[in-house]
Amino acid sequence: MTPNKPEMALSIRPATADDIDAIVGLWELADIVAWWRTPRDDAERLLASEHSTLFVGELDSGVIAVVSAGDDGRRGWLMDLVVHANHRGRGYGLQMARAAELWLTERGFRRAQMLLRTDNREAMAFCRALGYGVSPRGIMARWLHRPPLPDSGPDAPDDDGKLDVAITYLEQTERSGHGTPHPPAGIRAALMRAEQPTVSFYRYLYNTVGAPWLWWERRALEDSALARIIHDERVAVYVLYVDGVPAGFGELDWRTTPVVDLALMGLVPEFRGRGLGRYLLGALLDIAWSDAPEKVTVNTCSLDHPRALPLYQRLGFTPVSREEKRIDDPRLTGLIPVV
Ligand SMILES: CC(C)(COP(=O)(O)OP(=O)(O)OC[C@H]1O[C@@H](n2cnc3c(N)ncnc32)[C@H](O)[C@@H]1OP(=O)(O)O)[C@@H](O)C(=O)NCCC(=O)NCCS
Repeated sequence: MTPNKPEMALSIRPATADDIDAIVGLWELADIVAWWRTPRDDAERLLASEHSTLFVGELDSGVIAVVSAGDDGRRGWLMDLVVHANHRGRGYGLQMARAAELWLTERGFRRAQMLLRTDNREAMAFCRALGYGVSPRGIMARWLHRPPLPDSGPDAPDDDGKLDVAITYLEQTERSGHGTPHPPAGIRAALMRAEQPTVSFYRYLYNTVGAPWLWWERRALEDSALARIIHDERVAVYVLYVDGVPAGFGELDWRTTPVVDLALMGLVPEFRGRGLGRYLLGALLDIAWSDAPEKVTVNTCSLDHPRALPLYQRLGFTPVSREEKRIDDPRLTGLIPVV
């Protein structure tokens, strides 16, 4: 994208308290304010601190751009840069960034940093055009105040940040007579074993399928520990593709032979509600029984889809035991992001 020539010269100046409404408006319109931030408080804090500042960019029509600059004592940062959507592509974003960089240079900083969401591709491209490169770091974050989570239902944590869960263990001691399962009519589905899946692909499946049900155990594993499980030849990961797109997965665990455990099974959220769950479960059971095990086991917890338990029972599983546990809410421990 090549910027058009600016239609008008942008006048850039330090913001004052009178600009706060306009600044908050720009941030909200650009949708860059995470739900846990309070933009008005942020703007006031940035203006009040000697470690930060806000610049606004003005045309005759009023304020159309904002950027903040600040230092954390050691590093200089550019933050919350927004150009009003009607005025993008004219070089104003670049001018705002350079003004903030100058503020940092004048304070002796030799490097400017920006924190961007990696899925904000436009802003990433903009930064690259300005000479910024990705500096790989992981951001570790922890809630100091509790984020808004459900206050009723199975996934509502108690005051200690714990969840009460009930796990039902089920088993099937003979092959059920449901016959070979077929994908729902009109859906082109294929189930393929992922031989030695990469940890990243496996994490994609597990995290995407499991997030609504707070699957957290595998998220807690280091890559090496996870690889040891999923690369074990007695563990088989099957991926369900619909029109070539991963739509779900299941995992059969033969490490406890002669018992086969259906360790995990679920659909990517966009593929729920089309009859694919029943197909996937039926197909996995077919595979599990092909090795003539003594029995097939599965467990489901009260955080899982409420229809998981009845589906297992319909396909021939019988509950054999139940366990109650209190677990740390994985959203509060940071394992599952609250976005
Ligand atoms: C990112 C943003 C500030 C860019 O402002 P802008 O005024 O459109 O950018 P400019 O016109 O100054 O462009 C400067 C350079 O970036 C490039 N650029 C800007 N947007 C781009 C995009 N979407 N894709 C590729 N390049 C882009 C321009 O081509 C130009 O490069 P060049 O000089 O090599 O030709 C603006 O898109 C915005 O406000 N986005 C929403 C808010 C946001 O996401 N902010 C970042 C979080 S801090």
